Amino acid sequence: MVVKEARSANVNQWGIAPHVLELKSSVIRDILKISSQPDVISFAGGLPAAELFPQEDMKWALKEVLDKYGPAVMQYSLSRGIPPLCELLAERATKEGSPTTVENIQVTSGSQQGLELVARVFITPGDYILTELPTYVGAVQAFDYYQTKYATVEMDSEGMIIDQVKEKLDKYKPKFIYTIASFHNPTGITMSTERRHQLIELAASRNVPIIDDNPYGAVRFSGEALPSLKSIGGDQVITLQTFSKILAPGLRIAWMNGPAEIMDRFEKVKQCTDLHTNTLCQYLIYEYVAAGKLEPHIEEIKKDYLTKRNVMVKTLRETFPEGITWTEPDGGLFLWVELPKHISARELLPEAVKRKVAYVYGEPFYPNGGGENCMRLNFSNATLEGIVEGIGRLAELLKENM
Ligand SMILES: Cc1ncc(COP(=O)(O)O)c(C=O)c1O
Repeated sequence: MVVKEARSANVNQWGIAPHVLELKSSVIRDILKISSQPDVISFAGGLPAAELFPQEDMKWALKEVLDKYGPAVMQYSLSRGIPPLCELLAERATKEGSPTTVENIQVTSGSQQGLELVARVFITPGDYILTELPTYVGAVQAFDYYQTKYATVEMDSEGMIIDQVKEKLDKYKPKFIYTIASFHNPTGITMSTERRHQLIELAASRNVPIIDDNPYGAVRFSGEALPSLKSIGGDQVITLQTFSKILAPGLRIAWMNGPAEIMDRFEKVKQCTDLHTNTLCQYLIYEYVAAGKLEPHIEEIKKDYLTKRNVMVKTLRETFPEGITWTEPDGGLFLWVELPKHISARELLPEAVKRKVAYVYGEPFYPNGGGENCMRLNFSNATLEGIVEGIGRLAELLKENM
């Protein structure tokens, strides 16, 4: 067979939109690339523990949905989400204290798509939004595409500092408040109940919607459960939740819960994006959850992450030099380390990777700059031995550079 060479084209002269040319690739994805060699101990990603993915139950669920629903599970489906899953999600939210109907639910392809839909529905270039500082880098990526400006609010151990929220709401008139109130990414901080009430009051008094990005709320492994922003704030709040951290991120199933009129807008925008979320994965998850398999699975995850967090915190206490602080979260996947001001976590990363340990440095979580002396450590994806060894290697590196 004669293999023809493909005709070439001068792609560099194609009229790519200027705002797309400006897009930066995700620093985390770049770090994941360098840290994915098998001998690197990586605290970089936000990966759940793969050994906990319920393989046998997924095999069961796959057979079950094919037998029960037949070809429908491979067909196009509704943009809102398959009705049984929407009903189940609404029922669960209602039981958890937020009265919800199917009109309030929009299924999405991961919460990352939820963030993209939020940006599309609310933001025109140059609009301000209000976020915590630091904030989730994936949200910044989604919002940056729409040329968003950021009014940022610092956090203490109880979450957003409310005086700053008030000041920035009035000064910048943001389109919405974006928060990760429970086990915040990257800091691991959880907003206290009092702050939740204060935030809702402020938002309601100015009628600004709150987007509560909540992938980790269900992964509380210590301390008392707190009321969700949605259960306090009702229609003032649009919640984003996902099966990524409580089941498996590769399934890409998440959902939004918000006022019915706004959900109609999200549905229309979603139609332009991908018509609907993966039908088969929605059925798989529906069958799995309806069979009562999710709760025991979440309990397993919590047990595992509690052990890992404890080992990481203990090793940090034993090995890290004086002058470094870190958060000790009651849930989620991350803790946040602050080094002395003069140390750049970004500059230390290449040497860390040489020593076969990786983390994510702070700057990408600061949309207006900052965070040079910070690093995010993930504790869900390494083994216990890996945590002890990797934190030890980091401690040595830091001692040499303090
Ligand atoms: C705060 C936050 N929002 C959204 C996402 C995206 O989640 P999903 O896998 O559902 O797209 C993540 C993932 O790490 C996250 O940490």
